[in-house]
Amino acid sequence: MMAISIKLTVNGAPVSLDVPARMTLADALRDKLRLTGTHLACEHGVCGACTVIVDGLAVRACLMLAVQASGSEIITVEGLGENGALSALQTAFRRHHALQCGFCTPGILTTMHALLSSEPGADKERIREVLSGNLCRCTGYIPIVEAVLDARQAYRRKETAR
Ligand code: FES
Ligand code: FES
Repeated sequence: MMAISIKLTVNGAPVSLDVPARMTLADALRDKLRLTGTHLACEHGVCGACTVIVDGLAVRACLMLAVQASGSEIITVEGLGENGALSALQTAFRRHHALQCGFCTPGILTTMHALLSSEPGADKERIREVLSGNLCRCTGYIPIVEAVLDARQAYRRKETAR
């Protein structure tokens, strides 16, 4: 199958890839770049496990073709940490025991990072509304919501410093 050349920025680094026209962004990240923190479950846009951030928006990487992402800036769960340390959001997840099954965590973290980056004052209802696109069948959402509420302060500080 003919490959198409694309250029992206992934977690701050410029990347050039040759991908088949029908390869999803999720497969390109996992198979071509070995960024396996982007998890695949339903593969049809329902569960949210594959969520990455594309130009600031939370996107289901199983529904986007890699060629559609050409020219975009992408952040995966591997890019959330700051200077080799956990981000404020990741630290809050650890503090509140919000990691649960682990499989869904990357998609939940990227979704919540995109939310708090644009809405650092998001309240509990808004957080729950956005989280409703990330399915959890193991435990529930209470520790996750508490962790996100806790992390808001760090995003507010970032916004004030801008
Ligand atoms: S694997 Fe993409 S939404 Fe479920
Ligand atoms: S966090 Fe993965 S199923 Fe609940």
